[in-house]
Amino acid sequence: MDGNGRWAKKRFMPRFFGHKQGVDALVRTVQACADRGIEYLTVFAFSSENWKRPSDEVSGLMGLVLVAVSKYLTKLAKEGVRIRIVGDRSAVSDKVREAWGQAERATEHNRRITLSVAFNYGGRWDVVQATRCALADGVQPEQLDEARLGRYMAMSYAPDPDLFIRTGGEVRISNFLLWQVAYSELYFTACLWPDFGDAELDAALADFRARERRFGGVKLEPAPQVVSA
Ligand code: FPP
Repeated sequence: MDGNGRWAKKRFMPRFFGHKQGVDALVRTVQACADRGIEYLTVFAFSSENWKRPSDEVSGLMGLVLVAVSKYLTKLAKEGVRIRIVGDRSAVSDKVREAWGQAERATEHNRRITLSVAFNYGGRWDVVQATRCALADGVQPEQLDEARLGRYMAMSYAPDPDLFIRTGGEVRISNFLLWQVAYSELYFTACLWPDFGDAELDAALADFRARERRFGGVKLEPAPQVVSA
């Protein structure tokens, strides 16, 4: 969800204003995905590296979590959205942890769409935490394979993403779901996140549909139909 700061700057507004609009874009996008039958949407809301931002921006983003949960939780819950938070919760304040817990508990039985919010998340952190948990469980080196480690990854409850969208014009992954995007189709758009909506989502989905996915294999031509007269 990149581009909030630039979106605000273009309007001579503080960066926080862009993040606030970013929350509205997120709620719109959840609805648009649910309407299109997409069952999993995962968004990068705060990375392990975002702590390097000025302290007023960090505290603004933390405050926005509380505002967003109180403003939108009831609506999202009614729409059948299950909310899951992925990331290291140990470093966030009790208030933020509690708001996330409330959002998860209130929506845990919903299944129309699962919205995973990556918060204080990093792809490398995820690989390390999964390995640590496997070791703590007594998994032996020779027992460790991709499937076994995958069960300890933060998003083990969800399938790997088919489509990875980055807004804001940068063309990199920036430590998002490193393990999970191994075979995702990547889509980059210059659209700034607060402007993201139905039209941008449909453009990304159309692009995705035109891709040929081989997962490291080769495209097999369909076997010829044999017609006997
Ligand atoms: C990147 O844009 C955006 C972020 C670091 C924050 C994204 C957060 C939101 C959309 C709010 C979500 C909040 C909740 C509660 C889920 P940027 O600031 O790097 O923009 P720039 O590249 O234009 O400077």
